[in-house]
Amino acid sequence: MEKITLNLKYSGIEQKEFETYGADLSDATEKMNQRYKGSLGWISVPSFWLPRVEEIVKIKDQISEQSDEVVVIGIGGSYLGAKTIIESLQPNEKKITIHFCGNNLSSASISAVINNLENRDFSIIVVSKSGSTIEPAISFRIFRKLLKDKYGESAHKRIFVITDSQKGILKEMADQFSYASLPIPSDIGGRYSVLTPAGLLPVALADINIEELLRGAADAQKHLSVTNVQENIAFQYAVTRNVLHKKGKLIEIFCNYEPRLSFLAEWWKQLFGESEGKDHKGLFPASANYTTDLHSLGQYVQDGPRHLFETIINIKEPIKNLIIPEDDTKDGLDFVEGKSLDFINKQAYLGAIKAHVDGGVPNIIFDVPKLTPYYIGYLIYTLELSCAISGYLLGVNPFDQPGVEQYKKNMMSLLDNSTS
Ligand code: PA5
Repeated sequence: MEKITLNLKYSGIEQKEFETYGADLSDATEKMNQRYKGSLGWISVPSFWLPRVEEIVKIKDQISEQSDEVVVIGIGGSYLGAKTIIESLQPNEKKITIHFCGNNLSSASISAVINNLENRDFSIIVVSKSGSTIEPAISFRIFRKLLKDKYGESAHKRIFVITDSQKGILKEMADQFSYASLPIPSDIGGRYSVLTPAGLLPVALADINIEELLRGAADAQKHLSVTNVQENIAFQYAVTRNVLHKKGKLIEIFCNYEPRLSFLAEWWKQLFGESEGKDHKGLFPASANYTTDLHSLGQYVQDGPRHLFETIINIKEPIKNLIIPEDDTKDGLDFVEGKSLDFINKQAYLGAIKAHVDGGVPNIIFDVPKLTPYYIGYLIYTLELSCAISGYLLGVNPFDQPGVEQYKKNMMSLLDNSTS
C-alpha cells in the first residue's frame, strides 16, 4: 500500500542536518519509552484496540438503535480528535446526527443543540478524562436533566461515559448510576487520546470504519518504530521544525487545500501548542485553509515578517473531481474549460509553494495518497509521535499542560466569591 511521505525539498533543511540530531533523537526516544515502560500509553494504543473494535461497535449499535441524535460532550483532547476525523471523512450516509457540546460556556451554542433535540430521540456521550473539567461537566448536567425529564427512570440507559479507567467523579457516577462506560487508559493524556474510545466511539457512530482507522495507525506504529531518521517521517518532521525554530522561525502554519481538513488543524494546534508551549519555549501553531486564505493571510505569508514556515497536508487523489463545463459566455475562462477542478487546485498549490518559498517561507509537505480512514489513522499517529519527539528535542515535557490550570484557578475563585 502506498505510504504517506514527507517532502522536505522546500524546507531549507539539508540531509546532513539530520545527522547532527542522532544522539538527541535517541535521547528523546529513550525518554518517551521510559515514560510508558510497562504500560500501554498512546504509543501502542492502535495495536491494542485493533482486535477489540467489537467492544466499541456493540455500544455504537446500542446508541444507534435508540437515538436519532447524539450529543457528544467534551472539550480539548476529549472532542477535537473525534470531530477532526468525522469532518475529514464526512461519510455519505448519516443515520444519526452528532452534536458536539461542552466545548464552550456559551448559552447560545448549547441552546442551539437543545433546540435540535426537540421531538427527537437522543442519547449523550460524555468524554472527560478527569471528569472534573467545568465546561463538559456543566453541559452534562444540562443534558442529563433533559434526559431525565423526557425518559424518567430509563434516562440512565441513554448516558454513555468515556473517562479515566481508574478514577474520577465521572467513573464514580458511571458505577453508581449504571451508565455504560468505556475507558481512557490512565496513562494517556487528552490530546493523545483520539485513538482510544474517546475518539473511536463518536467516530464509529458517524459510520466511519474504525477498524481501518486503527489499521492505519497500527501500520504507522510499526513503520515509525525504526530509529533511523532517514526512514522515519515522524522523526524527520520533528527535527525539521526544531531546526527551523533554531534558525529563528517562531510560527508554523498548518495548511490544507481541502476545507474538510480545517479541523485537523484545530486538533494539531492543540497537540503541538499544549505539548510544546511551556517554559517560554515553542513554535506558535497557526493554521490556514487554502486557497481561501491565500486571499487573506496570503499577503502576510508572502510579505510579512520572515518568522514563519508552512506545513502542508497535500491530498494526492481528490475525493471528488468536477470538470469545468463548456460555456459560450465570454467570461474569460476558456483556458480552463475541460480541465478538472483538482488540477486547478494543484496548480494553485504549486504556485503558492513557489511564491512562499521564494519569499523566504520554508515549506514542509506531507503527501497523503487519499482521504480514507486508513490514511487519517496513519497521519494522526505520525503527528502524535512527531509531537512527543519534537517536545523532547525542544527540551520540554510534551505530556503535561501546567499553563492550562491558571485560568481554571482564577475562574473558580471568581465563582466562589460571586453572588449571582
Ligand atoms: O490534552 C489535555 O489533557 C487537555 O486538553 C484535555 O483534553 C482537556 O482539558 C479536557 O480534559 P478532560 O478530558 O479531563 O475533561
